Amino acid sequence: MLGKFDLDPELDRLREPFVSRGVNDELPWFQEYAVQEPFDYLQPALFCTFTDGTRGIRLCYQGHTKTDTQLDVTLTEPSRSISVILHYRICNTPGLLFRSVTVINNSCMPVQLERFLSATLSLPAGAWNATYFTGHWGAEYNKNRTILTQTCLTLSNTRGTCASHQAVPFVALDTNADEEHGDVVFAGLAWSGDFRMDLEKSATGSVRLSAGLSDFDTVLTLEPNCSETSPELLIGYTPNGFGDMSRILYDWEFDIVCPQSKITQAFPVIYNSWYPFEFSVTQENCMEMLQRAKEVGAELFVIDDGWMIDRTCDSNGLGDWFADPTRFPEGLKPIADACHEIGLLFGLWVEPEMLNSNSDLYRQHPDWVLRDPHQPEDTMRNQLVLDLSREDVTQWCIDTLDRLLGEYELDYLKWDMNRYMSSFGTNREIRFRYIQNLYKIWQFMNERYPNVLYENCASGGGRADFGMLPYADRINRSDNADPVDVIRIHEGFTTLFLPKLAGGAGNISPSPSNINGRSTPFLFRAIIGMTGSMSIGIDLTTCNDNTLHEIRRATEIFKTLRGDLQNSYVLRLKSATEGNVSVLEYLRRDGGVVIIFAFGHGLRYAEGNLIICLRGLDEHATYRDENSQLHSGAALMRRGIRITLKGDYAAQYFIFRRETDIIQNRKKVGP
Ligand code: GLA
Repeated sequence: MLGKFDLDPELDRLREPFVSRGVNDELPWFQEYAVQEPFDYLQPALFCTFTDGTRGIRLCYQGHTKTDTQLDVTLTEPSRSISVILHYRICNTPGLLFRSVTVINNSCMPVQLERFLSATLSLPAGAWNATYFTGHWGAEYNKNRTILTQTCLTLSNTRGTCASHQAVPFVALDTNADEEHGDVVFAGLAWSGDFRMDLEKSATGSVRLSAGLSDFDTVLTLEPNCSETSPELLIGYTPNGFGDMSRILYDWEFDIVCPQSKITQAFPVIYNSWYPFEFSVTQENCMEMLQRAKEVGAELFVIDDGWMIDRTCDSNGLGDWFADPTRFPEGLKPIADACHEIGLLFGLWVEPEMLNSNSDLYRQHPDWVLRDPHQPEDTMRNQLVLDLSREDVTQWCIDTLDRLLGEYELDYLKWDMNRYMSSFGTNREIRFRYIQNLYKIWQFMNERYPNVLYENCASGGGRADFGMLPYADRINRSDNADPVDVIRIHEGFTTLFLPKLAGGAGNISPSPSNINGRSTPFLFRAIIGMTGSMSIGIDLTTCNDNTLHEIRRATEIFKTLRGDLQNSYVLRLKSATEGNVSVLEYLRRDGGVVIIFAFGHGLRYAEGNLIICLRGLDEHATYRDENSQLHSGAALMRRGIRITLKGDYAAQYFIFRRETDIIQNRKKVGP
């Protein structure tokens, strides 16, 4: 953590005049916010065009204001009447810095912002590695690690909204770190739309990280006396490796950024209709299913896609947010009431940003659709995108959601977004304004219905990003619920996000998997289901009694553990990226409970015989396992525990409770 005066030398440096140098001078360029200083050939963060056609600005320090948590440095371009304010917001616990920028146009002519990034960050010369996450539908958050060389590596997304289906706006930089050791500098953009992150290594070995809005097809016009503020870039540092990086992010998510009234509570076990019914939901089958869901221990029943007028396939019904009178003759109220009567919460799926051309909404407002007037309308999954950058569309969205949340007294809402953007018409600001209005709608929902549990879904994990964290409680991790694939997906997800946020329609998934046809035993799926926020996506009407019993047993066990699991750090003891075995340690944040999950598949003989050393325990404390055997923290961390996984689809979990906690708990419940 920085001391109060630690930034003063940096501020002094900003006052130094620029000195022009010779071609043989290869000193690194450590610009605090890179614009167009002459002879700086690394990536700039800001690039402006003026009405006379000239481009580029140079900035001089003008002044700053400072509080305990915020520093604002004002820079000016005197000849252009442009001011740039660099914002530095410090979050002391867990120790993160948030940087953003405001550009103010004090001139009497408009200015075009052709590139408008949130920050420039310079790192000294070194053998820097970049770790980042890329992916696509059904295979999100794949970890990549590469050494930076003298070139520019750009992570970017131009799909309009879906960060995690291309590249997550996040990078970690290290020179020699592992899970628990070594310096790691990391940065993540709190934005759910197009972005760019440039990692540029200079000739001298220094690295410039520039990150912010994508400048592909986005130009913002700053009218006279107007200003624009960029999204925030979070920046963190730890000397204790990638594991600690995750823990810093978790602490921020737990204690600061996620909706606080809900993150401290246990999330309910969800039953979701998508995998069993897809588009064939009816009043009858939902009524039957919700009874069964209650019997197996679900606490929240969700009607997923398919409930709207004519929504029997993906070509109809998007946009008209009313229950289909044929399949739900009395609307959804009887189902909501039936849930509430038997003590189930009730939730609904929506996809408010989208419409089918075969909808009343489209017939009434064809001009609300994002399109290129010279091209045919391009659909993906037969759907079109509403132009959320328009205020009237945003208001329609707010009114629609207000009606649904109020009328059905929803306890949960799943917001989906099932296509990428393609055409944007003539307005170059749409990609930016769209996301601003998206946040406005989510802000409205949170303020008006603060107790509703919200799930952020975009074809699975397409919108799993830091920008959405203040608004949504659960994130649909992936549409891929195949348990073998989930092991890797979950590891990538939990490197950045709390395990508690790991949502989805069927974290206990059907078998065979609808994605890749793999058949897996129930126990394997159930134990994987416990690692995130539990949901059931199995057709309970076709299960035999034995399977129903197994599901009930799994939810019962999960409920006894979730208070600990959902308040835990996840430590990657053996990474799924290295082979067919994965071991995760869930360490309750106060260290009182440790739950080890071990998974193996496709194992050769003896490959699953492991000795695994736990981490992060108190070496002087005593821990009791499930068989009441005692272990010292030192032994668990140094001698380790034996794990034996065999053959295919093997899963185990082990629980260790710190003795002092057990004794305290006994005292609490005792006479
Ligand atoms: C997306 C979601 C799924 C489901 C379907 C419904 O793919 O990720 O969970 O809601 O849409 O169309």
